[in-house]
Amino acid sequence: GFHVGTAVAGGGHHLEQDYPDPFTFDKKYRKILGKQFNSVSPENQMKWDFIHPERDRYRFEETDAIIDFAERHRQVVRGHTLLWHSQNPEWLEEGDFTADELREILRDHITTVVGRYAGRIQQWDVANEIFDEEGQLRTRENIWIRELGPGIVADAFRWAHEADPEAKLFFNDYNVESVNAKSDAYYALVQELLAEGVPVHGFAVQGHLSTRYGFPGDLERNLQRFDELGLETAVTELDVRMDLPASGRPTKAQLVQQAEYYDRALSACLAVEGCNSFTIWGFTDKYSWVPTFFEGEGSATVMTENFVRKPAFFALRDTLREA
Ligand code: G3I
Repeated sequence: GFHVGTAVAGGGHHLEQDYPDPFTFDKKYRKILGKQFNSVSPENQMKWDFIHPERDRYRFEETDAIIDFAERHRQVVRGHTLLWHSQNPEWLEEGDFTADELREILRDHITTVVGRYAGRIQQWDVANEIFDEEGQLRTRENIWIRELGPGIVADAFRWAHEADPEAKLFFNDYNVESVNAKSDAYYALVQELLAEGVPVHGFAVQGHLSTRYGFPGDLERNLQRFDELGLETAVTELDVRMDLPASGRPTKAQLVQQAEYYDRALSACLAVEGCNSFTIWGFTDKYSWVPTFFEGEGSATVMTENFVRKPAFFALRDTLREA
């Protein structure tokens, strides 16, 4: 019942031969993806700007490719994501909609996307990153909460549940690995929603870690408190970036430290009964999001750009073997 997953880069572009540049077919990538994991998460392809590029047009091909691939390899799929402040299409963010129209747009999106893949998605990140670091709702940035009020979050869960009663519905965020203001805000919200009977089933920590900031030592304790609310928990986007030396290549000591972080995150999840899904955010530096977002940092995944396994790969493997 334990799933070890990865984000799938490039939206299936590396999986099939007929996609255009810049994402090209990558045989080696595809082989490792099929062999080493039993769960996959589309890294970008189920986000609004990819899957719903115009108001009256959905684009499913890339997600279809990933899900078909997953099923051929007996992998489960994590859906990501339905209600978020980022990667929304321009027609939505810049559109001049009434509150009623916006509500209908969200309902239609959730019903259409979740409904299309009903029975084929194990866990959905329904609401992504709705709180800021202080534990306040992102009222300004998040179009849904801003225009429709906080109650829209519960509606999103209800609509998703109607469209796919089998899927487990999650909150997902970064910097919530520890017990802190942000994770406290989720803890309080989840209790409230559960008391109201809203179908919330899981709490996920993304796990975008950096050796600069240290390992969140209370990860297990934090997952455990959500477990005790009756939720499933998951690590959904683990990577461990580091400051690269001038050579651009990590030192041995850095790789050893990285391996320790990966391993501690996995061990924390394994120690919590309802933590049933452990996903790394890509398995090769070749397609990692980190270098484009953090200058001078990188080497965040478990394999180099040439698919050479790092100590982190072996650390995870050994811990999984012993589990
Ligand atoms: O698809 C376009 C392509 O057509 C264009 O040519 C190219 C040029 O910039 O951009 C492509 O889109 C990029 C997309 O990734 C696909 O590669 C976007 O610019 C880029 O911003 C986007 O970055 C993604 C990021 O989310 C956006 O917020 C990363 O790949 C993805 O790893 C990252 O994932 C997020 C999770 O969804 C939520 N948690 C945090 C995590 C890391 O930021």
